[in-house]
Amino acid sequence: MTTTPYLNELPERQPVAYADEQLPAEVILIRTGQQVNAWLNICPHQGRPLNYAPNKFLQTPDGYLMCAAHGATFDMQSGICVNGPCKGISLKAVPVAINPHGQLQLNAPEAH
Ligand code: FES
Repeated sequence: MTTTPYLNELPERQPVAYADEQLPAEVILIRTGQQVNAWLNICPHQGRPLNYAPNKFLQTPDGYLMCAAHGATFDMQSGICVNGPCKGISLKAVPVAINPHGQLQLNAPEAH
């Protein structure tokens, strides 16, 4: 069984891939300060994963997450595509809670 990461294990504003059997797909975790955003690693453009290699994601110099397939860029706070072929469409959010021990709890959304 996989355990979810702890808040203090996540690098600041660096996308991290996470998967376990409770989730319908791999998840992208991004910590900003004490907050963590999570999205399914499924691009709204053609349904591909955003990463180019296991746990390797592209980021633009100005801090957007970029899909490696066709270059769509996503705001790392809102998950919305701000440029590219799926502009205006958001990644699918995964609700995140942080328990008193600082461990993430992810609530599985529907994949579609
Ligand atoms: S699949 Fe992500 S930009 Fe095309």
